[in-house]
Amino acid sequence: MSTTNKRQDPGDEPAATPPQPSRRRFLQSAAAAATVGVAPHLRAQTQTPAAAPPAEVHAPVPGRPVTLTVNGRAYTLQLEPRVTLLDALREYAGLMGTKKGCDRGQCGACTVIAEGRRINSCLTLAVMHEGENITTVEGLASNGVLSPMQRAFIEHDAFQCGYCTPGQLCSATALLNEFRNGTASTVTADVRSRPPQLSDDEIRERMSGNICRCGAYVNIVAAVRAVHEGGAQNSASASSNGRHNNGNA
Ligand code: FES
Ligand code: FES
Repeated sequence: MSTTNKRQDPGDEPAATPPQPSRRRFLQSAAAAATVGVAPHLRAQTQTPAAAPPAEVHAPVPGRPVTLTVNGRAYTLQLEPRVTLLDALREYAGLMGTKKGCDRGQCGACTVIAEGRRINSCLTLAVMHEGENITTVEGLASNGVLSPMQRAFIEHDAFQCGYCTPGQLCSATALLNEFRNGTASTVTADVRSRPPQLSDDEIRERMSGNICRCGAYVNIVAAVRAVHEGGAQNSASASSNGRHNNGNA
């Protein structure tokens, strides 16, 4: 089949050919049009954000001197009102024996004794204890002699990693005083009369605020029971043999 080509005379002007948009340019144009027409909010996102307002500046709360008597020694610390007793002991007084576990009252690692009562030092502010007598794990021993509870913990292997141990020791020490003073617990059968014996159930309930992730609970109960029954006195010689040198974790 022959094709007929129209001849072009040399004098003729070349026929004007309309520009053909490429496929890529066409797709780019269509996409841009869709963006502008359908999602005008996207355009706003591409604009330069307005300068952020200057951050609000709070003036620091000035500290004030707070005097605590810790383990028989007076400490006057310059503290902001928001400083917890736990942080005051560790960060300001340098008594690192008291441990910070959860910092929210759930583990008991921070237990200290304030005016004879065991408390979670992470849940209370230092300024609330101005002038009070605080006992930490560093204050349980006396003149280098471990307390009966410390000796019993060693004798009964009542710890593994030892992180919870300062809180366990303070809690157990105060527990015995509470029991001697007739304070009932939720497992005390008759709250009108003091239980004749500190049963293992009583010990477990009264120590339930102190968590031990190593699971040394059986031995902790045995240690507390031993001190209650006076058995720790017999373990004094064992501890002095140097299996462990102290109860501070
Ligand atoms: S650190 Fe205070 S209860 Fe856990
Ligand atoms: S001894 Fe490790 S958490 Fe209690």
